[in-house]
Amino acid sequence: MCQIDGNNTDQKYSSLDKVIERYSSEQGQLIRILQEAQEIFGYLPEEVQTYIAGKTNIPVSEINGVVTFYSLFSTDPRGRYGINVCLGTACYVQGAQGILEDFRRDLQLKERDTSEDGLFTVKSTRCVGACGLAPVITVNDEVHGRASRKDVARILRKYRKIEEASEKTDDKHKRPAADQEEHPPGP
Ligand code: FES
Repeated sequence: MCQIDGNNTDQKYSSLDKVIERYSSEQGQLIRILQEAQEIFGYLPEEVQTYIAGKTNIPVSEINGVVTFYSLFSTDPRGRYGINVCLGTACYVQGAQGILEDFRRDLQLKERDTSEDGLFTVKSTRCVGACGLAPVITVNDEVHGRASRKDVARILRKYRKIEEASEKTDDKHKRPAADQEEHPPGP
């Protein structure tokens, strides 16, 4: 069964074909192919891994091993907000693991990394180079330093509010068209 949504699936696979073709003559380019495949599809579901295996003659078990080993790869569609909790040494000793667990618990993430509403993807990451601010969380490009477990609910609330505000703005932009329908120009 096809898990990939969208109208451009054929286009995506044809872009992937080009990527595979580009790297097929070079050895050891699997990670590059997977990175670009993830850029194209947004994530690496089983069907994309199987497709790459078929085209490259690399066993799908090997591809799956690479995808699950590196945290930069995701087998789930990513949420709009990517929350990365640094588990590098400086952050870890300051309690980052507990922060990660709280995010996962609050968002009810069990097997998956992405929340049911598709808003948040939670991952751990290695040192992001801001050890002076440990423990460090990044949400998309925004850095939250000296974080604690108390900040988890606040951070989630903040991005939910941003999301609500952007939905309202979208609605406003749609409204003039509706108004026009209600009040057609008179003779
Ligand atoms: S260990 Fe977390 S920023 Fe360096």
